[in-house]
Amino acid sequence: MVQIPSQLLSDRAVIVTGGASGIGAATCQLLASHGAKVIVADIQDQEGRQIAADAGGLFVQHDTRDPASWARLLDAGKAAFGTIDGLVAAAGVKGNTTLRSDPDAADFNRTVSVNQLGILLGVQIIGEYMRSQAKGAIVNIASATGMPPAISKDIVYVSTKWAVRGISRVAARDLAPCGVRVNTILPGLVMTPMIAGSIDADAEQFARAKASIPMQRLAEPIEIAHAAAFLLSDMATYVTGAELVVDGGLVA
Ligand SMILES: NC(=O)c1ccc[n+]([C@@H]2O[C@H](COP(=O)([O-])OP(=O)(O)OC[C@H]3O[C@@H](n4cnc5c(N)ncnc54)[C@H](O)[C@@H]3O)[C@@H](O)[C@H]2O)c1
Repeated sequence: MVQIPSQLLSDRAVIVTGGASGIGAATCQLLASHGAKVIVADIQDQEGRQIAADAGGLFVQHDTRDPASWARLLDAGKAAFGTIDGLVAAAGVKGNTTLRSDPDAADFNRTVSVNQLGILLGVQIIGEYMRSQAKGAIVNIASATGMPPAISKDIVYVSTKWAVRGISRVAARDLAPCGVRVNTILPGLVMTPMIAGSIDADAEQFARAKASIPMQRLAEPIEIAHAAAFLLSDMATYVTGAELVVDGGLVA
């Protein structure tokens, strides 16, 4: 996939949660190619350090569920780069609960704490910092499963992705008068480690899912990263509260 270096994000410091893998890792690489100073934040230490080294950025080990971890991340980013101009919140986990599963509070808590609480803490802590400096842009990664029709059976995961839409909309309206923009990307199926396990587990179901995508293929992570770069950039100065579906036509 095409990666055209530019100065689109020159000198902007951007935190990318989930930056060690998949969509987050591709976003780190792409933002760096647009001139951004990237702060790779992830629970995975070794992989995160490698991505940060490749992107010429900073790695901060981070647990998106923990308010204190967010405060440390903000401090580390400011100490390194003086300010934080952007946040791409891509940390996420797949759930394991369908309607027919045995009730599983542990799976619920794990999925909701990363995918929903993690997004909420990001807009609260980084959003409030951006409000204080009267500038900034936040991009939250939801999912096309957060749009009708209900295309996934992973009922807890889907509920968290609808929640991301709600959190982003409330934050967008609240922060808009202060010059801070908040937008959401809703990816369709993307070829990342998150779904690699599902492909191995049920190749037939996966083939059916792929065939149901009008473009007849999965997205590459960089195709989601391009959308994030746009939403962070000055090409999107009047875009806030928006939901950008990047799904090869899946929910069309
Ligand atoms: N891959 C897809 O098809 C797809 C589709 C729609 C939406 N998404 C969403 O995109 C985002 C990125 O997913 P991906 O496919 O790149 O997955 P991935 O598994 O490749 O990457 C997720 C990253 O999040 C990190 N992470 C998990 N828990 C964390 C925590 N508590 N604190 C900090 N980091 C944590 C992981 O270590 C990992 O590096 C997720 O929110 C996912 O739900 C993915």
